[in-house]
Amino acid sequence: TKIRPLLAGNWKMNGTRASLDQIKAIADGVKAPLSEKIDTLLCPPASLLYVATALCDDSPLAIGAQDCHQQINGPHTGDISAEMIADCFGTHVIVGHSERRRNHAESDMLVRAKAEAAHAFGLTTIICIGETAYERNSGQTLDVLKRELGASVPESSTSETTVIAYEPVWAIGSGQIPTRADIEEAHAFMRDELVERFGTDGRNIRLLYGGSVNGDNAAELLAISNVNGLLVGGHSLKAVDFLAIYGAF
Ligand code: G3H
Repeated sequence: TKIRPLLAGNWKMNGTRASLDQIKAIADGVKAPLSEKIDTLLCPPASLLYVATALCDDSPLAIGAQDCHQQINGPHTGDISAEMIADCFGTHVIVGHSERRRNHAESDMLVRAKAEAAHAFGLTTIICIGETAYERNSGQTLDVLKRELGASVPESSTSETTVIAYEPVWAIGSGQIPTRADIEEAHAFMRDELVERFGTDGRNIRLLYGGSVNGDNAAELLAISNVNGLLVGGHSLKAVDFLAIYGAF
């Protein structure tokens, strides 16, 4: 099966109104013929969501959020709901990013509940998993991936509603990237797990690699089997960097 690739950018806690020209430049750069072959998504901070979707109205660039709450609404000061994201015309949401897991003590169970809430409002989830340096060095990488995949990915997941991003925590923002063999092993393992759980549809669930992706390494990463796209942090902030990665697809 030929899986349609996805390029996703995550701005994290970066970006103000002054960055809207970068969103516009990315939206303008995402165009045919390449946009007919791949999906492209940008996740700016929540404060820019509504204006970003308006800017991208005429572009195939999709806009998503970086997190959502697991409840529909209620007394959750500072949180945003899946419904609010959809209301801003966002179509995707990242859940379970390692920075949320670490800085906000998010568990697999919570990530799963967030993904369920997102699916209930028609959002596609990018569910992030990945081992820490300690876990890798102690030989636990595949165990961690098995646990996180099993516990963070809800039953409501299909290849239409769910994308998995493999982000080794130690590769995020560090300039360090696993070897080709290590990425291939991790992605083949995730593929097998998903097929075991979701059957044929598990073959079509997109598996992204994330962690220190840039315009120079993107093509190499995309050539690895079962790498169906990329999740980019730092190099998604400037249109010139992000579009260089786009051009590598
Ligand atoms: O969500 C994005 C990842 O955490 C990767 O970040 O490209 O800055 O390493 P990075």
